Amino acid sequence: MNSTQIFINGQWVSPANGRVLDMVAPSTGEKIGTIARGTAADIDMAVKAARRAFEGPWGQMAAVERGRLLSRLGQKILENEDELTALEALDTGKALKLARNDIKAVARYFEFYGGAADKLHGETIPFLNGYQVMILREPRGVTAHIIPWNYPAQMFGRTLGPALAAGNAAVLKPAEEACLSCIRLTELAAEVGFPDGAINLVPGLGEEAGAALSSHPDIDLISFTGSPEVGILIQKSAAENHVPCVLELGGKSPQIVFADADHGKAIETIVAALVQNTGQTCSAGSRVLIERSIYDQFMTQLSRRFKNLRAGPHEMDLDCGPVISRVQQERVLGFLERARADNIEIAAQGEVHAASSDGGYFVPPTLFRLVPRDHELAREEVFGPVLAAIPFDDESDAIRLANDTDFGLIAGVWTDSGARQMRMAKAIRAGQVYINGYGAGGGIELPFGGFKKSGHGREKGFEALREFTVAKTVVFNHG
Ligand code: NAI
Ligand code: MG
Repeated sequence: MNSTQIFINGQWVSPANGRVLDMVAPSTGEKIGTIARGTAADIDMAVKAARRAFEGPWGQMAAVERGRLLSRLGQKILENEDELTALEALDTGKALKLARNDIKAVARYFEFYGGAADKLHGETIPFLNGYQVMILREPRGVTAHIIPWNYPAQMFGRTLGPALAAGNAAVLKPAEEACLSCIRLTELAAEVGFPDGAINLVPGLGEEAGAALSSHPDIDLISFTGSPEVGILIQKSAAENHVPCVLELGGKSPQIVFADADHGKAIETIVAALVQNTGQTCSAGSRVLIERSIYDQFMTQLSRRFKNLRAGPHEMDLDCGPVISRVQQERVLGFLERARADNIEIAAQGEVHAASSDGGYFVPPTLFRLVPRDHELAREEVFGPVLAAIPFDDESDAIRLANDTDFGLIAGVWTDSGARQMRMAKAIRAGQVYINGYGAGGGIELPFGGFKKSGHGREKGFEALREFTVAKTVVFNHG
């Protein structure tokens, strides 16, 4: 793999300015490679190649053939699972078992959307006598994809799977902090025989390659996952060119525990939903809301579990790895320091394993008790292994609290009462609500996306295919 090149029109080429960016392993802080630093000139070539592909062989390909290519890529990913797992773990610092899940998930994305490509049917509409109306679902055209560093491989599948299945030609700008798996996955895609220009990959900086892509006048849709701040810039660019965008901007997702819940089961899931990927997950369950009557008892159990958490380098396969970068480490430690200054008590803290390199970007997993409802720990996305516990009085208080942030991505509700399960599911303003559970192993089939500032549009499942297509109404007058 020559990671310093970009992939345009079916060819690996050097970026126009020949520049590169260093890649660093978060577990050690050491340099592990270089990637291309693409710029506007490269993005322009990539968009042109995608446009030609869309108007040419790729756009003409039957849905069943597109589906076969996607399915073949899924298979190819599984054949290379070990290599991709090692690469993803090294590049992001995530524990090996999590990296392996991610690689299985990216394979599933291509299998799922490979199977779906020829099942995307249109509709007919009963209309006036003498008329027949068809709704065709057509691809958008050239789609732009800007993805983050927390799940590079999964994001590759999550965003490209439905776009390609629907017949779009894609330009992908992965994150500068971690994108080696995206480069390797693009190589595999080239090997299975996607036509030239169907997939184009231009690594680079957000403010260079990313901004050039989102503001390019010849794209038809932008799909973005990342920070709310950049989400605003993306929407401004989209507005300039009157193109739609799908935005996934993170969350402050609650896990809500009522007194009648199965506490043992809840605790395991609550901890896993926070520490997965060291808290750097858009859907991390970063607030635990606990009914007051069981608060002390539940916190004792949760703290016991939290104390046993270990962070360490990816190859040790512990509960947490490092966070992605020095910048992110400082950001997360900043939250911890401000909480200390505000006298918010730490209920339990895990440990950074003694074998961890001093150069790695480690943060101890931390559980805070009695976090005030207006504190940043209760409202803002930390994107690190930090859990905020907050008591609530009753069901209506739980609902108020659950909805009391700017975000609305996902939620978990723990209760044995069937009626309450339904009431909570309806009252919570979030794109996904889990009852007696949280998250679902990638959840490829499950529509996913935000309410409020968590973003808009839907990814995953068949909903994503709708986002990457547009309805065309054709009216026949056969009177
Ligand atoms: P970011 O939003 O800057 O990066 C995400 C992607 O956007 C990257 O590919 C980046 O190159 C690109 N980008 C950055 N600036 C751009 C611009 N001006 N135009 C176009 N593309 C641009 O996120 P960052 O700085 O890596 O993380 C900051 C915080 O954002 C995190 O601490 C976390 O709270 C949140 N975040 C949320 C994610 C999620 O999954 N929803 C993923 C990553 C970050
Ligand atoms: Mg940024």
